[in-house]
Amino acid sequence: MLPKRRRVRAGSPHSAAASSAPPAARFPSVAIYLAEPRMGRSRRAFLTRLARSKGFRVLDAYSSEVTHVVMEQTSAQEAICWRKNMDALLSSCPQPALLDISWFTESMAAGQPVPEEGRHRLEVAEPRKEPLCSVTMPAYACQRPTPLTHHNTILSEALETLAEAAGFEGNEGRLLAFSRAASLLKSLSCPVTSLSQLQGLPHFGEHSSRVVQELLERGTCEEVEQVRCSERYQTMKLFTQVFGVGVKTADRWYQEGLRTLDELREQPQRLTQQQKAGLQYYQDLSTPVGRAEAEALQRLVEAAVRQTLPEATVTLTGGFRRGKLQGHDVDFLITHPEEGQEVGLLPRVMSYLQSQNYTMDAFERSFCILCLPQPPRAALEEPLHPCPTQKAVRVDLVVTPNSQFPFALLGWTGSQLFERELRRFSRREKGLWLNSHGLFDPGRKTFFHATSEEDIFRFLGLKYIPPEQRNA
Ligand code: CTP
Ligand code: MN
Ligand code: MN
Repeated sequence: MLPKRRRVRAGSPHSAAASSAPPAARFPSVAIYLAEPRMGRSRRAFLTRLARSKGFRVLDAYSSEVTHVVMEQTSAQEAICWRKNMDALLSSCPQPALLDISWFTESMAAGQPVPEEGRHRLEVAEPRKEPLCSVTMPAYACQRPTPLTHHNTILSEALETLAEAAGFEGNEGRLLAFSRAASLLKSLSCPVTSLSQLQGLPHFGEHSSRVVQELLERGTCEEVEQVRCSERYQTMKLFTQVFGVGVKTADRWYQEGLRTLDELREQPQRLTQQQKAGLQYYQDLSTPVGRAEAEALQRLVEAAVRQTLPEATVTLTGGFRRGKLQGHDVDFLITHPEEGQEVGLLPRVMSYLQSQNYTMDAFERSFCILCLPQPPRAALEEPLHPCPTQKAVRVDLVVTPNSQFPFALLGWTGSQLFERELRRFSRREKGLWLNSHGLFDPGRKTFFHATSEEDIFRFLGLKYIPPEQRNA
């Protein structure tokens, strides 16, 4: 390295050499100009003398003769801007190479100009474009990968809170708008640090932009904080978290002045069987299900299915298939390779589980609460507390005929927004109707035949998105 900012004292041997006529240039094709702004005058003088003493041609003034501009501590953007201004003063436009000081020091050490490599250059192939991350960001979530973990969690969580709150007010339009904006942030390959990066992104309306701006500037968003602290939001969240309680019911209870789960428990005559179970197991059901528990449940369900119909298969779907480590439930898809064999399977599986004391409650065709025996180790770890020997877990069991399996798999893997977007894309962009049973062409009145999820993406003209990238 060359010494920086070394003072050149008058009368030093260096300055004496510099004042003498430079030796004939040994490298006629190279004419160096040392740009002063960051370098400083004295360092520039020192480097000039050094280069000339080694036979390099260094020009004092910028001109069309200059072939190599050397700069120090200067960004590519600044360098390009500098050259533009300098060239504007000339009649021709020489566009000399813009090089970092590293090219200069290496050349001095080598005693000759070293080849200019990418690491020396201050030019970038293309000026950085704004917005940075969104050069091509397709509008539908099913057209782009959305990983489980991403770079904009604080921003997406804030927007999802507003989406959730809008859902509590029955405002579907707002719920979707905020959900789509949040989902877009999850797809970006870098953190958003400036609002300008969001320019031109689909779904980023005035409101979402305002929230992001506030978060970038202050770290919090007042509107979001107010929502999170509000009695309305907290109560609606509490009530809708009870198994069997939807937004409408929660809202009615809220309007009636109910605020706590105990107040609900006091009015059992108003509760459905499902809601009663939801309240009874509230503690367990509001504790996230872990991956190990999901796998234990899979073995349990597989054993029950095997007992009932040996050839039938069990596939894990939902959030766990997307790579989530926790979930509010565990989702399974059951099928049989021979079409029709699956008929009547679910009630038989359920009664088998019942006979083995695993069923806590079964509702409708597929939603149930199973009891998962807890490993004895967990009991030993906390000897002072009453050790739970079982845990209630929400399980969704869905049975599908083999011909519909790919559609059911796609439909039950989620995420919910991914599914909504997939169906909206099919209808609006392709004129096709998609659900968990099939893909229908209403014009021709025909169903598509699929043997895999890949088939369905192909029919829809979409690039295949693997489950781990459907976390929209
Ligand atoms: N689903 C559905 N019909 C329902 C409930 C759910 O089609 N009545 C679908 C959802 O659209 C989603 C999938 O089933 O694609 C899984 O739903 P759910 O278990 O609610 O969500 P997960 O993504 O699995 O999230 P979590 O981990 O919280 O369970
Ligand atoms: Mn789930
Ligand atoms: Mn589910």
